[in-house]
Amino acid sequence: MAPENLVWMHEKIIASHALNVKKLSVKNYRNAMSLTDALKSSASGALMIGKYLAPFHFIFSSFYPCMGRSYKMSIGIIGSGALGSNLARAFAKKGISATIATRRGPESLASLISEVGPSIKAGTVAEAASADIVIVAVRFEDLGTALGNLPAWNNRIVIDGTNAVAFLEPGSPETQDPTNPLAAYGIKAIDLGDKQSSEVFSTFVPGARVVKAFNHLDVAALVEPELSGGQRVLFYSGDDAAAKTEVRTLIENTGFSAVDLGSLAVGGQLAGLPFGSLSAINFIKV
Ligand SMILES: NC(=O)c1ccc[n+]([C@@H]2O[C@H](COP(=O)([O-])OP(=O)(O)OC[C@H]3O[C@@H](n4cnc5c(N)ncnc54)[C@H](OP(=O)(O)O)[C@@H]3O)[C@@H](O)[C@H]2O)c1
Repeated sequence: MAPENLVWMHEKIIASHALNVKKLSVKNYRNAMSLTDALKSSASGALMIGKYLAPFHFIFSSFYPCMGRSYKMSIGIIGSGALGSNLARAFAKKGISATIATRRGPESLASLISEVGPSIKAGTVAEAASADIVIVAVRFEDLGTALGNLPAWNNRIVIDGTNAVAFLEPGSPETQDPTNPLAAYGIKAIDLGDKQSSEVFSTFVPGARVVKAFNHLDVAALVEPELSGGQRVLFYSGDDAAAKTEVRTLIENTGFSAVDLGSLAVGGQLAGLPFGSLSAINFIKV
Protein backbone atom coordinates (compact mmCIF):
# COMPACT_ATOMS: atom_id res chain seq x y z
CA MET A 1 0.00 0.00 0.00
CA ALA A 2 1.34 3.42 -0.91
CA PRO A 3 2.38 5.64 2.01
CA GLU A 4 -0.17 8.26 0.92
CA ASN A 5 -2.96 5.73 1.35
CA LEU A 6 -1.65 4.77 4.75
CA VAL A 7 -1.59 8.39 5.79
CA TRP A 8 -5.12 8.79 4.52
CA MET A 9 -6.27 5.66 6.32
CA HIS A 10 -4.63 6.77 9.51
CA GLU A 11 -6.26 10.15 9.22
CA LYS A 12 -9.65 8.63 8.58
CA ILE A 13 -9.40 6.31 11.57
CA ILE A 14 -8.57 9.10 13.94
CA ALA A 15 -10.98 11.61 12.49
CA SER A 16 -13.77 9.07 12.54
CA HIS A 17 -13.54 8.78 16.26
CA ALA A 18 -14.08 12.50 16.75
CA LEU A 19 -12.03 12.67 19.91
CA ASN A 20 -12.48 16.37 20.49
CA VAL A 21 -9.37 16.89 18.48
CA LYS A 22 -8.81 18.72 15.28
CA LYS A 23 -8.97 16.71 12.13
CA LEU A 24 -5.55 15.58 11.13
CA SER A 25 -4.12 17.54 8.31
CA VAL A 26 -2.45 15.56 5.57
CA LYS A 27 0.10 18.36 5.36
CA ASN A 28 1.13 17.75 8.95
CA TYR A 29 1.48 14.09 8.28
CA ARG A 30 3.50 14.64 5.16
CA ASN A 31 5.79 16.84 7.20
CA ALA A 32 6.07 14.13 9.81
CA MET A 33 8.15 12.07 7.44
CA SER A 34 9.40 9.75 10.13
CA LEU A 35 5.87 8.77 11.04
CA THR A 36 5.08 8.15 7.41
CA ASP A 37 8.17 5.99 7.17
CA ALA A 38 7.06 4.11 10.23
CA LEU A 39 3.77 3.40 8.54
CA LYS A 40 5.30 1.94 5.41
CA SER A 41 5.55 -1.63 6.50
CA SER A 42 2.44 -3.45 7.40
CA ALA A 43 1.55 -5.24 10.59
CA SER A 44 -1.73 -5.71 12.26
CA GLY A 45 -2.48 -3.37 15.10
CA ALA A 46 -5.25 -2.06 17.21
CA LEU A 47 -6.26 1.39 18.23
CA MET A 48 -7.14 1.98 21.84
CA ILE A 49 -9.22 4.98 22.69
CA GLY A 50 -9.44 5.47 26.39
CA LYS A 51 -10.48 2.13 27.77
CA TYR A 52 -11.91 0.89 24.51
CA LEU A 53 -10.18 -1.30 22.01
CA ALA A 54 -11.48 -0.26 18.64
CA PRO A 55 -12.83 -3.24 16.69
CA PHE A 56 -10.59 -3.01 13.71
CA HIS A 57 -7.08 -3.49 12.63
CA PHE A 58 -5.06 -1.05 10.72
CA ILE A 59 -1.81 -1.03 8.89
CA PHE A 60 0.74 0.07 11.35
CA SER A 61 4.24 -0.71 12.19
CA SER A 62 7.18 0.88 13.81
CA PHE A 63 9.69 -0.58 11.46
CA TYR A 64 12.69 0.36 13.49
CA PRO A 65 14.51 -2.58 14.98
CA CYS A 66 14.61 -2.60 18.76
CA MET A 67 17.98 -1.20 19.55
CA GLY A 68 18.42 -3.43 22.56
CA ARG A 69 21.57 -1.76 23.77
CA SER A 70 22.08 -1.36 27.47
CA TYR A 71 21.17 2.01 28.84
CA LYS A 72 24.20 3.98 29.93
CA MET A 73 22.90 7.53 30.13
CA SER A 74 22.14 9.01 33.55
CA ILE A 75 18.59 10.25 33.94
CA GLY A 76 17.15 13.04 36.07
CA ILE A 77 13.48 13.78 36.60
CA ILE A 78 12.46 17.25 37.77
CA GLY A 79 9.01 17.03 39.32
CA SER A 80 7.55 14.11 41.23
CA GLY A 81 3.84 14.65 40.77
CA ALA A 82 1.60 12.62 38.49
CA LEU A 83 4.04 12.57 35.58
CA GLY A 84 7.35 12.43 37.45
CA SER A 85 6.33 9.71 39.90
CA ASN A 86 4.86 7.51 37.18
CA LEU A 87 7.97 7.89 35.07
CA ALA A 88 9.96 6.78 38.11
CA ARG A 89 7.66 3.75 38.45
CA ALA A 90 8.00 2.95 34.74
CA PHE A 91 11.81 3.17 34.81
CA ALA A 92 12.02 1.19 38.06
CA LYS A 93 9.99 -1.63 36.50
CA LYS A 94 12.72 -2.04 33.90
CA GLY A 95 15.62 -1.48 36.31
CA ILE A 96 16.51 1.87 34.71
CA SER A 97 18.28 4.19 37.15
CA ALA A 98 17.13 7.77 37.64
CA THR A 99 17.35 10.63 40.12
CA ILE A 100 14.05 12.33 40.88
CA ALA A 101 13.63 15.76 42.46
CA THR A 102 10.85 17.93 43.69
CA ARG A 103 10.33 21.40 45.09
CA ARG A 104 10.05 20.02 48.62
CA GLY A 105 13.44 18.35 48.73
CA PRO A 106 14.63 14.72 48.58
CA GLU A 107 13.27 13.76 52.02
CA SER A 108 9.72 14.36 50.83
CA LEU A 109 10.17 11.50 48.35
CA ALA A 110 10.85 8.78 50.92
CA SER A 111 7.59 6.97 50.34
CA LEU A 112 7.94 6.96 46.53
CA ILE A 113 11.53 5.74 46.81
CA SER A 114 10.58 2.90 49.14
CA GLU A 115 7.77 1.95 46.74
CA VAL A 116 9.86 1.88 43.56
CA GLY A 117 13.08 0.41 44.91
CA PRO A 118 16.78 1.10 44.63
CA SER A 119 17.10 2.05 40.95
CA ILE A 120 15.43 5.40 41.67
CA LYS A 121 17.16 7.91 43.93
CA ALA A 122 15.79 11.11 45.41
CA GLY A 123 17.97 14.14 44.84
CA THR A 124 17.95 17.90 44.72
CA VAL A 125 16.72 19.66 41.61
CA ALA A 126 20.34 20.57 40.82
CA GLU A 127 21.35 16.91 41.08
CA ALA A 128 18.54 15.75 38.81
CA ALA A 129 19.37 18.57 36.40
CA SER A 130 22.97 17.41 36.11
CA ALA A 131 22.07 14.10 34.43
CA ASP A 132 22.81 13.26 30.79
CA ILE A 133 19.07 13.25 30.08
CA VAL A 134 16.83 15.48 32.18
CA ILE A 135 13.08 15.01 32.04
CA VAL A 136 11.05 18.04 32.99
CA ALA A 137 7.79 17.01 34.64
CA VAL A 138 6.50 20.24 36.18
CA ARG A 139 3.46 22.30 35.34
CA PHE A 140 3.99 24.70 32.46
CA GLU A 141 3.53 27.73 34.69
CA ASP A 142 6.29 26.44 37.04
CA LEU A 143 8.94 26.16 34.33
CA GLY A 144 10.53 29.48 35.27
CA THR A 145 10.97 28.67 38.96
CA ALA A 146 11.92 25.03 38.41
CA LEU A 147 14.52 25.68 35.72
CA GLY A 148 15.57 29.18 36.68
CA ASN A 149 18.86 28.78 38.55
CA LEU A 150 20.42 25.65 37.16
CA PRO A 151 23.93 25.07 35.79
CA ALA A 152 24.50 25.36 32.05
CA TRP A 153 22.89 22.69 29.91
CA ASN A 154 25.94 22.33 27.69
CA ASN A 155 24.22 20.48 24.89
CA ARG A 156 22.72 17.86 27.22
CA ILE A 157 19.35 16.32 26.42
CA VAL A 158 16.23 17.72 28.05
CA ILE A 159 12.94 15.92 27.58
CA ASP A 160 9.96 18.24 27.57
CA GLY A 161 7.18 16.23 29.21
CA THR A 162 4.99 19.28 29.70
CA ASN A 163 1.84 20.47 28.04
CA ALA A 164 0.74 24.09 27.80
CA VAL A 165 -2.18 23.73 30.15
CA ALA A 166 -3.01 25.36 33.47
CA PHE A 167 -4.49 23.29 36.25
CA LEU A 168 -7.70 24.72 37.71
CA GLU A 169 -8.29 24.93 41.43
CA PRO A 170 -10.68 22.07 42.23
CA GLY A 171 -14.14 23.43 42.99
CA SER A 172 -13.28 26.93 41.75
CA PRO A 173 -15.71 28.79 39.45
CA GLU A 174 -13.27 28.21 36.60
CA THR A 175 -14.07 24.50 36.68
CA GLN A 176 -17.61 25.43 35.63
CA ASP A 177 -16.59 27.86 32.89
CA PRO A 178 -18.80 27.00 29.88
CA THR A 179 -16.38 28.71 27.51
CA ASN A 180 -13.58 26.30 28.47
CA PRO A 181 -14.01 22.93 26.70
CA LEU A 182 -11.45 21.43 29.10
CA ALA A 183 -13.07 22.64 32.34
CA ALA A 184 -14.45 19.18 33.10
CA TYR A 185 -10.88 17.85 33.04
CA GLY A 186 -9.75 20.51 35.52
CA ILE A 187 -7.45 22.24 33.05
CA LYS A 188 -7.44 25.10 30.58
CA ALA A 189 -5.22 25.81 27.61
CA ILE A 190 -2.50 28.40 28.12
CA ASP A 191 -2.53 31.02 25.40
CA LEU A 192 0.96 31.16 23.90
CA GLY A 193 0.01 33.46 21.05
CA ASP A 194 1.59 32.26 17.85
CA LYS A 195 4.26 30.24 19.66
CA GLN A 196 4.33 26.49 20.15
CA SER A 197 4.79 25.06 23.59
CA SER A 198 8.20 23.49 22.94
CA GLU A 199 9.39 26.78 21.50
CA VAL A 200 8.49 28.45 24.79
CA PHE A 201 9.86 25.51 26.78
CA SER A 202 13.21 25.71 24.98
CA THR A 203 13.74 29.27 26.19
CA PHE A 204 13.96 27.90 29.77
CA VAL A 205 16.76 25.46 28.89
CA PRO A 206 19.15 27.44 26.68
CA GLY A 207 21.89 25.30 25.18
CA ALA A 208 20.01 22.03 25.73
CA ARG A 209 18.89 19.64 23.03
CA VAL A 210 15.14 19.43 23.58
CA VAL A 211 13.11 16.34 22.75
CA LYS A 212 9.40 16.27 23.45
CA ALA A 213 8.17 12.96 24.86
CA PHE A 214 6.09 11.28 27.57
CA ASN A 215 3.48 14.03 27.31
CA HIS A 216 0.70 12.77 25.06
CA LEU A 217 -1.07 10.22 27.29
CA ASP A 218 -2.60 10.16 30.72
CA VAL A 219 0.18 9.26 33.14
CA ALA A 220 -1.59 6.06 34.16
CA ALA A 221 -0.56 4.65 30.77
CA LEU A 222 3.12 5.03 31.59
CA VAL A 223 3.19 2.19 34.08
CA GLU A 224 1.57 -0.16 31.61
CA PRO A 225 3.77 -0.21 28.50
CA GLU A 226 2.83 -3.72 27.47
CA LEU A 227 -0.83 -4.65 27.10
CA SER A 228 -3.30 -6.41 24.81
CA GLY A 229 -0.44 -8.52 23.52
CA GLY A 230 1.41 -5.49 22.24
CA GLN A 231 3.35 -2.41 23.20
CA ARG A 232 1.86 0.98 23.85
CA VAL A 233 3.13 3.63 21.44
CA LEU A 234 4.84 6.75 22.73
CA PHE A 235 5.60 9.62 20.38
CA TYR A 236 8.68 11.77 20.44
CA SER A 237 9.87 14.72 18.41
CA GLY A 238 12.88 16.98 18.27
CA ASP A 239 15.35 18.81 16.12
CA ASP A 240 18.55 16.96 17.03
CA ALA A 241 18.86 13.48 15.53
CA ALA A 242 21.37 12.14 18.08
CA ALA A 243 19.29 13.36 21.02
CA LYS A 244 16.21 11.74 19.51
CA THR A 245 18.05 8.45 19.13
CA GLU A 246 18.90 8.47 22.84
CA VAL A 247 15.33 9.27 23.81
CA ARG A 248 14.04 6.60 21.49
CA THR A 249 16.30 4.09 23.21
CA LEU A 250 15.04 5.21 26.62
CA ILE A 251 11.41 4.86 25.48
CA GLU A 252 12.08 1.41 24.05
CA ASN A 253 14.02 0.24 27.08
CA THR A 254 11.06 1.29 29.20
CA GLY A 255 8.95 -1.19 27.23
CA PHE A 256 7.13 1.09 24.80
CA SER A 257 7.09 1.26 21.05
CA ALA A 258 8.58 4.62 20.02
CA VAL A 259 7.31 6.59 17.02
CA ASP A 260 9.23 9.59 15.73
CA LEU A 261 6.91 12.46 14.81
CA GLY A 262 9.63 14.56 13.25
CA SER A 263 10.69 18.03 14.30
CA LEU A 264 9.58 19.81 17.44
CA ALA A 265 7.50 22.18 15.34
CA VAL A 266 5.59 19.33 13.70
CA GLY A 267 5.60 16.56 16.28
CA GLY A 268 5.22 18.82 19.28
CA GLN A 269 2.05 20.22 17.84
CA LEU A 270 0.64 16.84 16.79
CA ALA A 271 1.12 15.18 20.17
CA GLY A 272 0.74 18.16 22.49
CA LEU A 273 -2.25 18.42 24.75
CA PRO A 274 -4.83 19.73 24.72
CA PHE A 275 -5.50 20.16 21.00
CA GLY A 276 -2.85 18.09 19.20
CA SER A 277 -4.38 15.65 16.76
CA LEU A 278 -2.52 12.72 18.33
CA SER A 279 -2.82 13.83 21.94
CA ALA A 280 -4.48 11.39 24.32
CA ILE A 281 -4.67 8.72 21.64
CA ASN A 282 -3.48 5.27 22.62
CA PHE A 283 -1.93 3.17 19.91
CA ILE A 284 -0.90 -0.37 20.64
CA LYS A 285 1.70 -1.98 18.40
CA VAL A 286 1.06 -5.68 18.16
N1 LIG B 1 -1.01 14.46 34.67
C1 LIG B 1 -0.92 13.90 33.46
O1 LIG B 1 -1.66 12.93 33.13
C2 LIG B 1 0.09 14.42 32.49
C3 LIG B 1 0.33 13.66 31.34
C4 LIG B 1 1.28 14.11 30.44
C5 LIG B 1 1.95 15.30 30.68
N2 LIG B 1 1.68 16.02 31.80
C6 LIG B 1 2.41 17.28 32.01
O2 LIG B 1 3.40 17.02 33.00
C7 LIG B 1 3.63 18.22 33.75
C8 LIG B 1 3.46 17.88 35.22
O3 LIG B 1 2.10 17.49 35.42
P1 LIG B 1 1.69 16.70 36.70
O4 LIG B 1 0.30 16.24 36.47
O5 LIG B 1 2.76 15.72 37.05
O6 LIG B 1 1.71 17.89 37.78
P2 LIG B 1 1.78 17.75 39.36
O7 LIG B 1 1.21 16.46 39.80
O8 LIG B 1 1.25 19.00 39.92
O9 LIG B 1 3.36 17.69 39.66
C9 LIG B 1 4.17 18.79 39.44
C10 LIG B 1 5.48 18.53 40.10
O10 LIG B 1 6.34 19.65 39.80
C11 LIG B 1 7.07 19.95 40.97
N3 LIG B 1 7.54 21.33 40.95
C12 LIG B 1 6.83 22.47 40.83
N4 LIG B 1 7.64 23.53 40.92
C13 LIG B 1 8.87 23.02 41.11
C14 LIG B 1 10.13 23.62 41.30
N5 LIG B 1 10.30 24.96 41.32
N6 LIG B 1 11.20 22.83 41.49
C15 LIG B 1 11.06 21.49 41.48
N7 LIG B 1 9.89 20.86 41.32
C16 LIG B 1 8.81 21.63 41.14
C17 LIG B 1 6.09 19.74 42.06
O11 LIG B 1 6.81 19.65 43.26
P3 LIG B 1 6.06 19.65 44.69
O12 LIG B 1 5.30 18.36 44.74
O13 LIG B 1 7.21 19.68 45.65
O14 LIG B 1 5.20 20.85 44.70
C18 LIG B 1 5.42 18.43 41.61
O15 LIG B 1 6.19 17.33 42.05
C19 LIG B 1 2.63 19.25 33.26
O16 LIG B 1 3.26 20.11 32.35
C20 LIG B 1 1.56 18.41 32.57
O17 LIG B 1 0.91 19.14 31.56
C21 LIG B 1 0.79 15.59 32.71
